Amino acid sequence: MLRGRLDQHGITHRFVEMHDPVMAFADPVQIQQITGNLLSNAIDAIIATKQAGGHIETRIWLEEGHACCRIEDNGVGIPPGLAAHLFEAFWTSKEEGTGIGLAISRNLVEANKGQIWVMQDQKKGTAFCFRIPASVSRSGKEEG
Ligand SMILES: Nc1ncnc2c1ncn2[C@@H]1O[C@H](COP(=O)(O)OP(=O)(O)OP(=O)(O)O)[C@@H](O)[C@H]1O
Ligand SMILES: [Mg+2]
Repeated sequence: MLRGRLDQHGITHRFVEMHDPVMAFADPVQIQQITGNLLSNAIDAIIATKQAGGHIETRIWLEEGHACCRIEDNGVGIPPGLAAHLFEAFWTSKEEGTGIGLAISRNLVEANKGQIWVMQDQKKGTAFCFRIPASVSRSGKEEG
């Protein structure tokens, strides 16, 4: 879906996943909306640097019974003053933004019994993480 924008701005994307597939109890369409919102924000943040060398890394892994996903960019970073309101509706730093992408993403993550949070590093950009319960039983076997 976002390939066109990545190519247009010369942004590289790396997808890192575990050797075995990470299985989760979740609505796949909602997960696609969450990752789409996060990737779209990452692309916007990179474009805002007005520099070449934009890079996004999407990583998924299994940890503490959760399927975890981190989307990391080397964009401009979260604007000061917005950090405390990121997941609230209508907070935006973009001229054409509505500020609902992250609010919707948090609702969707929580609807799938998960959590979403941000990690900031001024030098490197921003990383958003979310996790949802994995479909692994106590014995460690995949369920369903
Ligand atoms: N990866 C990121 N890097 C830097 N800032 C970000 C990033 N993701 C979100 N933000 C900041 O958080 C704000 C809110 O993001 P959110 O996705 O909720 O709304 P938006 O992208 O502005 O508009 P839209 O409703 O179109 O998604 C953004 O305007 C931006 O300032
Ligand atoms: Mg957005």
